[in-house]
Amino acid sequence: MTLKNKVILVTGGAKRVGAAICCKLHAQGANLMVHYRSSQNEAQMLRQTLEQMRPGSVELIQADLLDIECLPDLIKETVRRFGKLDALVNNASSFFSTPVGQFTEQAWIDLIGSNLKAPLFLSQAAVPYLEKRYGCIVNIVDIHVEQPLKNYVIYNAAKGGLAALTRSLALELAPLIRVNGVAPGPILWPEYEEEWVDPSLREEIIDRTLLKRMGEPEDIANTVYFLIAHASFITGQIIAVDGGRSINL
Ligand SMILES: NC(=O)c1ccc[n+]([C@@H]2O[C@H](COP(=O)([O-])OP(=O)(O)OC[C@H]3O[C@@H](n4cnc5c(N)ncnc54)[C@H](OP(=O)(O)O)[C@@H]3O)[C@@H](O)[C@H]2O)c1
Repeated sequence: MTLKNKVILVTGGAKRVGAAICCKLHAQGANLMVHYRSSQNEAQMLRQTLEQMRPGSVELIQADLLDIECLPDLIKETVRRFGKLDALVNNASSFFSTPVGQFTEQAWIDLIGSNLKAPLFLSQAAVPYLEKRYGCIVNIVDIHVEQPLKNYVIYNAAKGGLAALTRSLALELAPLIRVNGVAPGPILWPEYEEEWVDPSLREEIIDRTLLKRMGEPEDIANTVYFLIAHASFITGQIIAVDGGRSINL
């Protein structure tokens, strides 16, 4: 229980990778503020499951992270409920293709807003509280920061910005706050993008991993946990958790 009495805010935590992160941190003793946008049922079920193990250990907060006004409230509400903030995990992300010639400003607002702008403004709001606790920020990036994903120009730019932000904030916020990132490779296929259903595309992606398989959400959760609990001399780093895909793209 290395995270006993720690308080952690996880964005987009209701399902998929975010939920795995929540389960791992909670199992290690953390109290959680789980943010969700539209996955209310999943968020409530997750809370119920975790609260059965430790009553009073999980709160939910709903917000669209594109609404910049509400971002400081996520931080304030966490501190109001649990009295402090030890770590912020910026996991929420929108993901859809933006082929050149077809994208709109709305796509830019959505992809940059959720993947880059919200993590920046949440981090800013969290700084005074994290400083008091020698806390940390973990950003969930993507291996496609280095090698862009075809047809995803804006998403690539947003995650590239998040990688730059990770290093830049590490510089700004040291020595009191550490800032690191995790760059997942293929973990879960996108939920809403049709092209990803194609079995040959999936096979090709898996084949390019050195380990010849998909990762598990728990692989990301374990790395987030490591960066929060066991990496007191690490800041400004982004760890690829991708079965070796990024050296074989
Ligand atoms: N899955 C992978 O294989 C993979 C690969 C590379 C990188 N990643 C990164 O790893 C992280 C988790 O991946 P994932 O596949 O689990 O993510 P995901 O399911 O695509 O998205 C996570 C959550 O982000 C929330 N979200 C999106 N837009 C939002 C907005 N405007 N405001 C508030 N919340 C918003 C959604 O919450 P609601 O459902 O509540 O609306 C969603 O459940 C993401 O940062 C992703 O970019 C994942």
